[in-house]
Amino acid sequence: MRDEVSRTLFERACKVLVGGVNSPVRAFKGVGGTPRFIREAKGAYVTDADGNSLIDYVCSWGALLFGHAPDFVREALDRCAEKGTSYGYPTELEIELAELVRELAPHVEMIRFVNSGSEATAGAVRLARGVTRRPKILKCSGCYHGAVDSLLVTAGSGVATLSIPETVGVPQSVADDTLVIPYNDVSALESVFAKHGAELAAFILEPVAGNMGLVPPDLLFLRRARELTTEVGALLIFDEVMTGFRIAAGGAVELYRVVPDLVCFGKIIGGGVPCGAFGGRREIMQNLAPVGPVYQAGTLAGNPLAVSVGLATLREILCAGRALYQELDRRAARLADGLEERCRAAGVPVTVQRVGSMFTVFFSPSKCIRNYEEARSCDTQRFAAFFHAMLRNGIHLPPSQFECWFLTTAHDDVVIERTLAACERALREM
Ligand SMILES: Cc1ncc(COP(=O)(O)O)c(C=O)c1O
Repeated sequence: MRDEVSRTLFERACKVLVGGVNSPVRAFKGVGGTPRFIREAKGAYVTDADGNSLIDYVCSWGALLFGHAPDFVREALDRCAEKGTSYGYPTELEIELAELVRELAPHVEMIRFVNSGSEATAGAVRLARGVTRRPKILKCSGCYHGAVDSLLVTAGSGVATLSIPETVGVPQSVADDTLVIPYNDVSALESVFAKHGAELAAFILEPVAGNMGLVPPDLLFLRRARELTTEVGALLIFDEVMTGFRIAAGGAVELYRVVPDLVCFGKIIGGGVPCGAFGGRREIMQNLAPVGPVYQAGTLAGNPLAVSVGLATLREILCAGRALYQELDRRAARLADGLEERCRAAGVPVTVQRVGSMFTVFFSPSKCIRNYEEARSCDTQRFAAFFHAMLRNGIHLPPSQFECWFLTTAHDDVVIERTLAACERALREM
């Protein structure tokens, strides 16, 4: 497979963009080699700069639920751009999107739109500290909540891929206010609440972890988190930047029926255009400026382009109803099961973990990965070999063991069959 153009572009990029990229995990450090530069994308496929057509499971890191460039997104962008791209002033569109979010996720009584998932989590954490007047935040190792100072401690995603000492650039005093426990560890949760409950502003977690590879939650862990935060007067924040509108219309809250105080969104809420949001109970949200004293603002927040595409995307979700998620689930199960069978048949020990249309193939003999510590014991070299063999066979996977594959409605049975056939060839080459 040709990659000369991507390699030339990467050399050029490295002279003006740090590491040749604008977000670290894109640089292929987790798998070696040179990242593919993308020229265009449609449906389930991306075309790289050398003209290779690849089945895409990165899907803008989960931001796409309906494949690349669906007609309704193009139409929404055209309609909006004709009338201007930003006013820095309120629009009716923002109200419509807020109302639609509340219809899909009724626990989000009020919402604030921002420009990214990182801004959403930063805003939610500041709000929690402002409301409780407490300093400390609890998070789980391997959960990633964006490039936010207080949340980078023992983070997943690119921080895990690069094995970065994550507090470089973060003041020690900030890091000291971040407490960390292993995901799914109820006794660690109970002891940290027993010791620090009175100082805790919030417990923030991915209700389904996606940034250490996919790790489903133990229901007991989520329920205990809800009970303990209520007991000590701290807020429970679900970071649904990845899971929101993906695993169900109402995200993890709909699936697990544990209701947090605040929720963070990103990715699908903008349908592939930069957008994020945080929201939750009215009496908490009313502490934000201009009603309350906790300051948060953004020049481009609620930008009409992003809000238009978000609206178009969420309307598709509303129209499609439950059938959308049932069908995504069926296809993802077929792919995930097929991959697991083929790896096992080839004598490669893997465990595939999945919730709805997001999953990870862990290169590990363990039956189950329950937290970051277990995820880190996977064979990342074997993952890298698999990644490159799949790429040579036309499949574009996330370039790290600690990430999820994402399916969209464009990944139909034909695409899945092609992926499974490519997997068989890739395993023979490894
Ligand atoms: C769970 C979660 N939270 C927050 C973020 C940060 O979002 P963004 O990259 O839009 O700032 C991400 C990004 O992958 C994420 O997966």
